[in-house]
Amino acid sequence: MKILLVGSGGREHALGLGLHADPECTELHAAPGNPGIAQFATCHPLVISDNQAILDLAQKLDVELVVIGPEVPLVNGAADLLRAAGISVFGPSKAAAQLEGSKNFAKEVMADAGVPTAHSFTCTNQAEIEKALDTFGAPYVVKDDGLAAGKGVVVTRDRQEALDHALSCKRVVIEEFLDGPEVSLFGISDGKTVIPMQPAQDFKRALNGDQGPNTGGMGAYSPLPWAPSDIIEDTYIKVLAPMIAEMAARGTPFVGLLYAGLALTDHGTRVIEFNARFGDPETQVLIPLLKTPLAQLLYKAATRNLEGVTLQWSDESAVTVVLASGGYPTSPAVGGVIGEFPTIEKVSIFHAGTTDSEKGLVSSGGRVLTVTGTGSDLTEARDRAYRAISHISLDGSFYRTDIALNASVAEKGN
Ligand code: AMP
Ligand code: GLY
Repeated sequence: MKILLVGSGGREHALGLGLHADPECTELHAAPGNPGIAQFATCHPLVISDNQAILDLAQKLDVELVVIGPEVPLVNGAADLLRAAGISVFGPSKAAAQLEGSKNFAKEVMADAGVPTAHSFTCTNQAEIEKALDTFGAPYVVKDDGLAAGKGVVVTRDRQEALDHALSCKRVVIEEFLDGPEVSLFGISDGKTVIPMQPAQDFKRALNGDQGPNTGGMGAYSPLPWAPSDIIEDTYIKVLAPMIAEMAARGTPFVGLLYAGLALTDHGTRVIEFNARFGDPETQVLIPLLKTPLAQLLYKAATRNLEGVTLQWSDESAVTVVLASGGYPTSPAVGGVIGEFPTIEKVSIFHAGTTDSEKGLVSSGGRVLTVTGTGSDLTEARDRAYRAISHISLDGSFYRTDIALNASVAEKGN
């Protein structure tokens, strides 16, 4: 099978490795890809917001499957254009990707599907905003209705900061604060069947101890030794299956990866958000643990053939740590030279924002590398990831040192 993978981040590097490892994948192309992906796939230049360019490339390469990594082409309708041309796509239609593209739309579908989430108001003017803020009280949760690369959400006790953020958005969702650990649980769907993956946890804040601004994600680990033993089944029944059924009933089936961001509150599981694609950096821990051949799995989803499929997982643990540019997430520095990578057993270094230049490999984005370690437990996986990342030099860069720390300590105590 010839496959085209769209995207250029750490998530796509991990997906690419998974696709490449599947013997069914005979030729892997990536667009635009990155220097890490280029080690095992053929990369092609591409502006990912250009749907026609994606179609032209897929047709020129005569691929049988297109896997779309990032949300932007999905929300732009790239999958619709490809499907109309008869090409199988792993990734939802424009209509289905609205689950990520509009927080308000996601709330409406959840209400119709009976899926538990935070109470919310969608506001378009100051009077509505102030009323909503005062109804819920602090901590305030204020979400830009549209796509914002993980940075459109402000959670704060400062009413003025909440109000200022709300007023800077065209349309804003203000909601009840959900207290409890967060879990990312992904469902792979062909539009009618949905298969849950094992859960992961992401670290959204920039700094240790969950301080600093929200980011796209600074690290992740899987599995979650502390999570309730029925978390997969419970999320399937309460969240994934009803959402997939509701989207199908609306005539906009969801084909691709449904990312459920959950809060495990004292009152049960609540959905914090949906995304319409694999999470980054959660993918960098899930794909190294997934034993089911990835190309066949995504092809079955794309061709509506998932019924009866089950996933096989390694019994190891994985921890990934993001190396971020100085200034991330507000104003990341780019163009810094990245030092040699160490070679450490059971460590994968995924490129997230890198570019080849005459100076060698340089940084080209806020999140530069994602370093994943695997091991027999979280402690071993963490040790490997941190040993590797501590040997990579990039001026001004930083990483969190507490990724999976609490979970690994708790695991040891069990
Ligand atoms: P989102 O983009 O909706 O995932 O929000 C980004 C981050 O903001 C989440 O991962 C949470 O850490 C936080 N957040 C979002 N909504 C809530 C909420 N209702 N209660 C508490 N924290 C939230
Ligand atoms: N890790 C969060 C996201 O992919 O949106």
